[in-house]
Amino acid sequence: MRLLFRLAGIFAVSSLWSLPAFATSTGITGHTGKDGATCSTCHKGGALPTVAFEGPTSLEPGATGQYSFIIRGGAARTGGADIAVSSTEAVLQAGANMKKLGAELVHTRPMEFSGNELRFTFSVIAPSTDVTLSLFGAGNSADADLTSEGDRAATTTLSITVGKGSPAGPGPGDDDGGGCAAAGGASLGALAMLALPLALRRRRKS
Ligand code: HEC
Repeated sequence: MRLLFRLAGIFAVSSLWSLPAFATSTGITGHTGKDGATCSTCHKGGALPTVAFEGPTSLEPGATGQYSFIIRGGAARTGGADIAVSSTEAVLQAGANMKKLGAELVHTRPMEFSGNELRFTFSVIAPSTDVTLSLFGAGNSADADLTSEGDRAATTTLSITVGKGSPAGPGPGDDDGGGCAAAGGASLGALAMLALPLALRRRRKS
């Protein structure tokens, strides 16, 4: 089954390659590593860059935070990125040279490195409830030949605590043991209520 999927993937990828209409140099989603795939599925042969997020690791519920995603090293001529967030309640907003594609952010075109570095900026609007978010980022460091050869991508993640984060830490009124036992008791009671008429019915039949 796995092999079949993999073969299907290879066919899909090779057909993408032969169709210029599916050019990815203007941005591709689903390759942050969040769901497994990264840009390096296609971009090969170049030196491995390093990538990093910069920005606040905690936000108030509903607040907006400013973030950077930085690619350093690798072929380091041009590059691109794909950024995703774990929660559908959180909103990503594109900064310069980025655009929103579905729920993710991608580069608008291969962007030139400056020095040994390429920096994308964006913002995150936190959900209105306490939760721990994960940002997923993939950065491709390319040789600017407009093929997928001689390039390579790396991925990273950043955890952002919104409010108290999730799961919420133990606080007053949080009594794990009691809660569990109470629930257990309740369902045992419910089972007994269900079992009683069943048992009675069985008796009547025999
Ligand atoms: C399905 C294969 C595939 C995947 C996955 C893919 N690319 Fe590409 N990419 C290509 C191909 C083919 C080209 C060259 C054709 C074109 O311009 O689109 C390319 C070109 C590029 C270029 C220009 C490269 C150069 O040397 O000039 C950049 C930058 C780029 N992609 C970024 C990305 C990023 C960032 C990701 C991951 C988020 C990604 N690509 C994922 C196939 C892919």
